Amino acid sequence: MMPDLLPRIIGHRGAAHYAPENTLAGIRKAKRLGIDWVEVDVRLSKDGVPMLMHDYELNRTAGINATIDSLTAEELEKLDAGTWFNSAYAGEPVPTLAETLLLLISLDMGVNLEIKADPNRPGMTARALVETVNTIWPVTRPLLVSSFDVPELDKIRQVAPHIPRGLLVEKIGYSTRSVLDAVGCATLNCHHSALNAENVTKMTEAGYPVLAYTVNDPLLAGELYAMGVAGVFSDAPDRLSDVAAA
Ligand code: G3P
Ligand code: MG
Repeated sequence: MMPDLLPRIIGHRGAAHYAPENTLAGIRKAKRLGIDWVEVDVRLSKDGVPMLMHDYELNRTAGINATIDSLTAEELEKLDAGTWFNSAYAGEPVPTLAETLLLLISLDMGVNLEIKADPNRPGMTARALVETVNTIWPVTRPLLVSSFDVPELDKIRQVAPHIPRGLLVEKIGYSTRSVLDAVGCATLNCHHSALNAENVTKMTEAGYPVLAYTVNDPLLAGELYAMGVAGVFSDAPDRLSDVAAA
């Protein structure tokens, strides 16, 4: 993906500082803040439906002692993923990826779908995600699929090579460049603390623009942009609007 097509700011998990993460309310909030792209996390339900959820355990955001792969999509949609954040969001459901994509299209937004791999069903999250994206998402609308899990990204390359892929890493290591090449990635999505002007320049010049997570401080965002970072993920994306435009 060409660096100039990438967003300067991506709302992290929607707009996680202001609204419950990975919910439709969070995506609407990001839009109201003037943000064009969001990142959300995708996991499979028991019946193989891609849903928005960060953790494997549902306890933190949905308040029940169960794992996401133990409930069907229908059961997950009935959970309350809003109350933990603020009672004003009581009853906010765990959304399916399909309804999320429909909302994003109606709001004219782009998206980074982060695959959280299911070790018991390797490759299945990528496959289900592709099926949903191919059914709903116009090919011309911006979308990036990322993961820390290389086999999931490689499955995307195999079954839907037209969908751009971003490799997620905490640090840039000796194998990072070869994985980016092998998976045919469009971006390198790296924790901000591992970045400096030298490695950002090197990766960008090699054809891998860098996206940095998770940045809520405008001063830090300014330093990252000065290093050559193409875009940043933020829970409070509105705080970065001025520095991103500078
Ligand atoms: O995609 C960037 C970031 O979301 C990766 O970490 O744990 O917030 O999903 P995490
Ligand atoms: Mg994520």
